[in-house]
Amino acid sequence: MEIAFTAKETGIFRKISEAAAGLGVPCYLIGGFVRDKIIGRPTKDADIVCLGDGIELAHAVAAFFDPKPPVAYFKTFGTAQIKLGDFEIEFVGARRESYTHTSRKPEVAPGTLEDDQNRRDFTINALAVSLGKEDFGTLIDPFNGLVDISNQLIQTPLEPLQTFSDDPLRMMRAIRFAGQLQFAIDAKTFAAIKENAHRIRIVSQERITDELNKIMLCEKPSVGWDLLYKSGLLKLVFPQMVDLQGAEYVDGKGHKDNFYHTLQVLDKMSEKTADLWLRWAAVLHDIGKPATKKFEEGHGWTFHGHEVVGAKMVPKIFTRLKLPLNDKMKLVQKLVLLHLRPISLTKENITDSAIRRLLFDAGEDIDALLMLCNSDITSKNEQKVKRYLQNFELVRQRLQEVEENDRIRNWQPPITGELIMQKFGLPPSKPVGIIKDAIREAILDGIIPNEYEAAYAFMLQKASELNLQAVE
Ligand code: CTP
Repeated sequence: MEIAFTAKETGIFRKISEAAAGLGVPCYLIGGFVRDKIIGRPTKDADIVCLGDGIELAHAVAAFFDPKPPVAYFKTFGTAQIKLGDFEIEFVGARRESYTHTSRKPEVAPGTLEDDQNRRDFTINALAVSLGKEDFGTLIDPFNGLVDISNQLIQTPLEPLQTFSDDPLRMMRAIRFAGQLQFAIDAKTFAAIKENAHRIRIVSQERITDELNKIMLCEKPSVGWDLLYKSGLLKLVFPQMVDLQGAEYVDGKGHKDNFYHTLQVLDKMSEKTADLWLRWAAVLHDIGKPATKKFEEGHGWTFHGHEVVGAKMVPKIFTRLKLPLNDKMKLVQKLVLLHLRPISLTKENITDSAIRRLLFDAGEDIDALLMLCNSDITSKNEQKVKRYLQNFELVRQRLQEVEENDRIRNWQPPITGELIMQKFGLPPSKPVGIIKDAIREAILDGIIPNEYEAAYAFMLQKASELNLQAVE
């Protein structure tokens, strides 16, 4: 099998080959780069393994380029990196690794290429291509990774229990690759994930969350989440999501399985956006449902206030998952809190004021909110979905009309606090807030238009009710 390198890649690899021959060190391309080349996925990073000192090889390779790229190296790990434009190459000596049962820190010793391939996670990631002068380009595939690529199968090169015990994060990597590549996980490998799931506890949260985010960014993220659930890993890494699972019945009345509903919403959202945080909002939109679930006689199942409870859970979940506690978290929280609002506007006799209030509360995130809300319309009954979507379209039109008239979305108060203080000679104080709030409420209620003149007149009226005197 010939691997189709670009002319630029071939030029670079020939130079590496020369440098390695000069040092008398056999070297190989290995891992994800080889896999992605065979699959035909775009790839930018290449890993080179050599039977010698990776740092020394990197220096020798750098000398072949003009200008000479800097070599970044880590003596403790024996790795070195050079960047050629946006192409990143990492060099390392072939290793044998063994892990102790309680720690992620491997004991590393120099090894053969075979040792190095043995210690890799999956057969599809253990393929190597020789960069020797004589056998340049030869594929070395001791575990039939090529066959697994063509069968679209993920399995470990060694006994799965051994491979997963070496680094339990690999269980999540298997699931992430299944999602990214749309490959299946071999039955024996999957059984080992189930058996070993509890060992994920020794892996750092950062590495786990990195995989969750990669799963989240897959074309169809539900695949990975569902496998996480079925493997037992989800219960350990994100139990609140597992709480969504299941449909309970009382007197023959059931509710939908909110875990699978959430996955459906997530996939629909992912068709519309590649934004990680909007996808997280889809995952979390109903997270408050288990805590608010009730069976009410005559009504059936209710989840009153789940959006409020869910929004409160967002920072806690972000903290636990070590996701950033920044504006993105606030965005997710806001979308969870507001996710029912657009749909509640599909009822009849909705006033402009209700529409204006939603525009005000959602602000610049109104489009993201509508996207979530649209994705949230799932039902087995196609007629129902069609009707909801039609109603939803009407709300979207109303929002647009009201926004065109009133420009509420990026609302800035037409009268500022400074102006109020100046006009009435006030320090920052309660009456200033009262007047500002009254103006905002009057605009949202449609009592006055969203304009300076009208707001100014309203301010004077409000001030006189408060017995304030203008000072100029
Ligand atoms: N690897 C491994 N076990 C891990 C992580 C990595 O065996 N826990 C090996 C695999 O051979 C992998 C290579 O190291 O192909 C490079 O790892 P990494 O860059 O994390 O993954 P890629 O396979 O390149 O995929 P991606 O860049 O999508 O993460």
